[in-house]
Amino acid sequence: AIERTLSIIKPDAVAKNVIGQIYSRFEAAGLKVIAARMVHLSEQQAGQFYAVHKERPFFKDLVSFMTSGPVMIQALEGENAIARNRELMGATDPKKADKGTIRADFADSIDANAVHGSDAAETAAVEIAFFFAGMNVHSR
Ligand code: CMP
Repeated sequence: AIERTLSIIKPDAVAKNVIGQIYSRFEAAGLKVIAARMVHLSEQQAGQFYAVHKERPFFKDLVSFMTSGPVMIQALEGENAIARNRELMGATDPKKADKGTIRADFADSIDANAVHGSDAAETAAVEIAFFFAGMNVHSR
């Protein structure tokens, strides 16, 4: 089915100047960018976005990393978009990510892991709505 997913290119990958290379991978996999914005997240925004991880030991580091520089946020649309984007990203820990995935190629650590992608349809809808008003999402 045609799905939507929320993708974030994290501060490490933005700093490495690989936004375009990552967008090319989305496009080559049949995922369309239907909304996009660059944001330097506040602590409050990052904490709210990652609220499900609030009790995890890595939460503080996660918020501090995600606010360390601008991120590029996009909604992607396409066949099976949630799983397809997760395949493109590779495992959360770049040391465990398959060869040729975004994280294997561009990430340095489990914190600085280049990209975020929604993990399920329910979270995708919540995450897209967190960053994009409906009028700014351009289904095509
Ligand atoms: P992301 O998909 O953005 O969701 C939460 C982030 O927390 C994750 O990617 C990692 O960058 C970061 N993180 C740090 N340590 C861990 C961990 N032990 N397990 C899962 N995520 C972690």
